Amino acid sequence: MQAQCVTDGVPPDFLDDAAVAAWTVSGAPLVDLLRQAHVPGRLTGFRRGGRSAVLVTAPRHVHQVLGVGGDRYVKRSHRARPLLGDGMLSATGEAWRSQRRVLQAMFTRRGVQRWEHHIAGAAACVVDRWAERARRGEPADIAEDVQFFTVDTIWRSLTDRPLDRETYLDLAAVQDIVAALPADVGGTAALPPAAEAALAALDEQMFRALADARARHRADGAGVSVLDRLLDAAASDPAYTDRLIRDELVTLLVAGYESSARTLTWAFVLLDRHPEVMERAAGDAGAVEAVLSETLRLYPTGWLLPRTAVADGTLDGWALPAGTDLLVCPYLTHRDPEVWPEPEAFDPGRFPARSPLPPGAYLPFGIGPRACLGTRFAMREMEVLLGALLARFTVETTGPGAGEPVFGINLRPAGPLHARVRERP
Ligand code: HEM
Repeated sequence: MQAQCVTDGVPPDFLDDAAVAAWTVSGAPLVDLLRQAHVPGRLTGFRRGGRSAVLVTAPRHVHQVLGVGGDRYVKRSHRARPLLGDGMLSATGEAWRSQRRVLQAMFTRRGVQRWEHHIAGAAACVVDRWAERARRGEPADIAEDVQFFTVDTIWRSLTDRPLDRETYLDLAAVQDIVAALPADVGGTAALPPAAEAALAALDEQMFRALADARARHRADGAGVSVLDRLLDAAASDPAYTDRLIRDELVTLLVAGYESSARTLTWAFVLLDRHPEVMERAAGDAGAVEAVLSETLRLYPTGWLLPRTAVADGTLDGWALPAGTDLLVCPYLTHRDPEVWPEPEAFDPGRFPARSPLPPGAYLPFGIGPRACLGTRFAMREMEVLLGALLARFTVETTGPGAGEPVFGINLRPAGPLHARVRERP
């Protein structure tokens, strides 16, 4: 049977051009268009600016595109390239393969054990700060606390150096750059002047850290930080210029702190609405892990994972010409009622799943060859911090809450999360 083509046959559920035009005029975010186009279980999509975009949400389609079809569907020029340069997240082809090989072993379950003391040290700082705050009874922004923690853990792991306040401010300014990046596929790459200034300060920190590490590396032999590993790679591979090392550092910093910080914030947003779950998780490592898994289901920070078909091919019987955009959307996949009954309900009891989930049904860390390098690191740091805080404190938000989700390049809460913490009796 002749496969039908999305550019002429058009799958039956393709959104009509008038609806796309109305969305364009409205200035609404991309997620609104995706919600309109979405039909559970089906390939749908729309045409924009002469290009076809296919929305991929059904687990079996997600598995085809990200899992088994990893070579056929690739990342187009990454939306974060102005920030990340040629780092691992935006690299493609052989360059990506060799970059991933260099760092893979450091991020396995065993590899991240070398950073346990960094994670424990950074968590202890937050516990101390909360104990002091509980004594004074003052509310504060806990989204900022978890962000300091995740910047601290990744910085210590990258450089083997603790984080000082000035460095933190330069590194955390990355969020202003991230916020300025286009959420949409193929969006413009130009940054506003404030983001350009933040980028310059960030680069200065990176090149300073590189110079320090190089001096130490020569003086006392190989260390155990990511920078040491990159310097080892540079000794045998000329591709590792200072610029590429900078790009890799920024990639790990951005990928490494933003998502974990936002996930921890979402966890507190959800726990605040469900105090009974907060009570159950106090002192129970398994329950803490389930809270994080369920948080990542409802609020996968990588809510949209775009790919482009490199060659003509078919997906589920539909012909996809080369150049078709495929918009894999974990946010919608995680709300598939076939897999997740009452999908909008926060229910950590879903985890660990009693029977294996269909491939492609749950992907907060992506799946396939481009799945998250830092999954183990992220889960470990989030478990340690959330476990330590819930065991000792209760948390009660004092302001309006973190607000609505913002579907930017990642999925983040709109505002700060002011809360009062109290020592458990
Ligand atoms: C809750 C925390 C995190 C979440 C939800 C998350 C999510 C993701 C997702 C969905 C992808 C795949 C993107 C795609 O397929 O287009 C990804 C890739 C990646 N993540 Fe994470 N991530 C987290 C934490 C981390 C941490 C802590 C690190 C580093 C220490 C990290 C490093 C990376 C890197 C380097 C890639 C690119 C891998 C490649 O292209 O080969 N991530 N992450």
